[in-house]
Amino acid sequence: MTLRVSVIGTNYLGATHAAGMAEFGHQVIGVDIDPDRVKTLNSGRSHIFEVGLEPLLEKNTSSGRLSFTTDYSQIADWADVHFLALGTPSGPGGGADLGQLHAAIDTLAPMLTKPTLVVGKSTVPVGTAPALQERIRRLAPAGDGVEVAWNPEFLREAFAVEDTLRPDRLVFGVQSEAALELLQRIYAIPLSENTPVITCDLATAELIKAAANAFLATKISFINAMARMCQAAGGDVTLLADAIGFDKRIGREFLNAGLGFGGGCLPKDIRALAVRADELGVSVLSGLIGSVEAINDGQRRDVAELAVEQAGGDVRGKRIAVLGAAFKPGTDDTRNSPALTVADHLHAQGAEVRIYDPQARLPPREGFTQVASVDQAVHGADVVLHLTEWPEFRYLNPTHLAGLVRTKIIIDGRLKLHAATWEQAGWKVVQIGRASTL
Ligand code: UDX
Repeated sequence: MTLRVSVIGTNYLGATHAAGMAEFGHQVIGVDIDPDRVKTLNSGRSHIFEVGLEPLLEKNTSSGRLSFTTDYSQIADWADVHFLALGTPSGPGGGADLGQLHAAIDTLAPMLTKPTLVVGKSTVPVGTAPALQERIRRLAPAGDGVEVAWNPEFLREAFAVEDTLRPDRLVFGVQSEAALELLQRIYAIPLSENTPVITCDLATAELIKAAANAFLATKISFINAMARMCQAAGGDVTLLADAIGFDKRIGREFLNAGLGFGGGCLPKDIRALAVRADELGVSVLSGLIGSVEAINDGQRRDVAELAVEQAGGDVRGKRIAVLGAAFKPGTDDTRNSPALTVADHLHAQGAEVRIYDPQARLPPREGFTQVASVDQAVHGADVVLHLTEWPEFRYLNPTHLAGLVRTKIIIDGRLKLHAATWEQAGWKVVQIGRASTL
């Protein structure tokens, strides 16, 4: 059954959610304070690179089911459900900055004269939903008629459309039967496809999202700590991950060792969870997260140090080629990108850094030259660094590249290159987590 849905905030999460809700057959209006973004989205185009998003936007804006506006008065009493898909960036001290959520509520709530449901999708510290409920109660003419629910999003960049249309689970944090029924109508399509649902209270819903992120980050740091053991003791971390991954209780996913995790979500969300845990006196959790972060930061530092070592102990005046700038393949997002941290370290030590990425466009920044091809990046390089595992890098021709560089040394920060092929072409291949090549 068609519902009227508003989605407030139209970045990665909101734009994809709005398009997904329209694809489920609902009438959707997305709201954003940025008029340029609204204009782009209304023309069926996307302001971000996300696989499959543009066709979905195009289809649903031209069918008239999906539109975007900067004007809250168009959605306030119109929508059956308002989704909050705003950013919760790191504030001072690492806790979540809820400014965008508060600003949206402060604009929307005074216009709500009829009962409605406000559903949070953003990742927030536990306790945020009841605080927003209270804020709305104070501001909305409809008062208690406006209910807050929490329905966290688990989407991964590069798979955001897939994760929205075919979620692996749905979490409904609700305060009433009526809110639950409305969410069931909104998600009627995935529910008819037997998507598992967890129905719970608001705090559990908020914590589920935080816990999922923290667990994923822990898995990555665990395998990176094992990579260090392999380096120290002579093992191969990829084979180790394959072997333990066959154990169904462990699973192979998120056991790829290398430069560690980055991006706009995991690093900031686990920090916010640690800050909240400390506020609530749960130091065992903040301590665990602190270790996960320390291992992750160490991976970036180690790869930069390896590059210095391979460049003869000093990178001043040396040319370093960096393959990859996005925080992971399949996206143009460079927020908290491990590749850029390594590049920054090397530039700070005097290296001339040339970066190539198939999608990410870097704003001009001192010390980096962004180039348009792998050939240009490696031209005259003293060390080549493979830092984001774009599939095309796996199929590079080492013999051809050998003719372009000054020194045939490549550091594989993502453990995805076929070392033997490179070695046959005369390269020295340094892979973290594999002692044999160090
Ligand atoms: C993540 C969560 O997966 C998603 O559920 C949540 O909603 C938002 O945060 P995303 O930021 O898109 O999604 O990236 P993800 O695919 O999870 O990768 C995160 C980082 O971990 C990347 O930098 C990636 O390169 C790194 N990673 C991932 C590893 O280093 N090793 C792995 O085995 C997997």
